[in-house]
Amino acid sequence: MMLTRIRLGVNVDHVATLREARKISEPDPVQAAIFAEQAGADQITVHLREDRRHIQERDVMLLREVLHVPLNLEMAPTQEMVHFALKVKPDIVTLVPERREEVTTEGGLDISRNKDILSRITNHLGDAGIQTAVFIAPDLQQIKEAKRIGVSAIELHTGEYANTRTHAERDRRLNILKEACRAAARVSLQVHAGHGLNLHNIALLAQIPELEEVNIGHSIVGRAIFVGFTKAIQEMRTALDLYRHT
Ligand code: PXP
Repeated sequence: MMLTRIRLGVNVDHVATLREARKISEPDPVQAAIFAEQAGADQITVHLREDRRHIQERDVMLLREVLHVPLNLEMAPTQEMVHFALKVKPDIVTLVPERREEVTTEGGLDISRNKDILSRITNHLGDAGIQTAVFIAPDLQQIKEAKRIGVSAIELHTGEYANTRTHAERDRRLNILKEACRAAARVSLQVHAGHGLNLHNIALLAQIPELEEVNIGHSIVGRAIFVGFTKAIQEMRTALDLYRHT
């Protein structure tokens, strides 16, 4: 079976994290996004958090103006964020859960608990021509609920797979992800994945046929310190293509 190429979304939040550590104007995540685009990123992903700890509204607005590839805005499902998204019009919004005290997005959305609000937001964004994805755990019930609220895509949280320390546990988590990808594709949901992915753990994930897109930030920005940003992106692109076909 001929597998389609996996789209690589590069998350530039951590470039902004470094900038905000000094509260000055560099390093600039917008400049990073332009480098990423030129290095082969298929999409730029940013998470505008409620506490604005890294990406700022201005960054998202500038990205909207300068990018040639799609802009994926990760945001909490709040009225304030929807208002902002409708103003900026990213190509896709990925709805994520958010807790102020967390270091990073720790879990997926609980769709059944927030069905009404999530389906209202999906409709609202859809009316403005913005595609919606939900960031969820690889859980069959969540996938069913995602289909019901009308999103076109899901992003599967790969954190638990990425954090495994033994081969047995890794394979167990991988199988859960495989099953989730199959279930999503069966109901015609596009399948994205992200969180904690790096040059090592992408190897097995890239072989899942239903997987269409990955969003990767921390490992690319971290590796860029040693090999440069362009090279770090090119390496990930090469790894995705290589493992896809092995
Ligand atoms: N996808 C989503 C929905 C996320 O919340 C994050 C983390 O901000 C990522 C992808 C990227 O994760 P990482 O920085 O671990 O590569």
